[in-house]
Amino acid sequence: MQARGPLMIEHRLIERMLAIVKNVLGQIEAEKKVDPLFVDAAVDFIRVYADRTHHGKEEDILFRDLDKKDLSVEDRRVMDELIAEHVFGRKTTKAIVEANTRYRNGDESALAGIAEKLRALVDFYPRHIQKEDKVFFPAARAYFTDEEDQAMLAEFWEFDRKMIHEKYESLVEGFERDPAN
Ligand SMILES: [Fe+2]
Ligand SMILES: [Fe+2]
Repeated sequence: MQARGPLMIEHRLIERMLAIVKNVLGQIEAEKKVDPLFVDAAVDFIRVYADRTHHGKEEDILFRDLDKKDLSVEDRRVMDELIAEHVFGRKTTKAIVEANTRYRNGDESALAGIAEKLRALVDFYPRHIQKEDKVFFPAARAYFTDEEDQAMLAEFWEFDRKMIHEKYESLVEGFERDPAN
């Protein structure tokens, strides 16, 4: 498998989650309510899987190694754009968490904010995936030898191996800091 293999497999799961969020957006519109626990679960997926596990491998390994190469102006521009989109995803997710907290505490006006930010993710993220799968990953592959590509793949597996431990260590640490959390 090439290094981009696991990243593209992860894209497929992210797309499946986005399809679920899209359905829920339809329900929000029809019923004028949302289950805050669904929003929690979607945020957990976005933060732990899409951002930490998936963007983590892209930024900390692939983009790091690409940064050492003599990238074309266009490839560097696209890489910067992808990084900016990851930042946009984080900001949007943070806004969803804040609106969901307000909603859970009885502020029904926060529902519009939840829906608007979920819609922003559902609208922008498929384009981000498309850009990586169809344009950036093939272009990036050309900068690496087979050995370099396989070294990144090995580092990806090692990165993933740590993720489940990191997630639950941070859960325990959160409870230790604030037991009522
Ligand atoms: Fe990305
Ligand atoms: Fe990606």
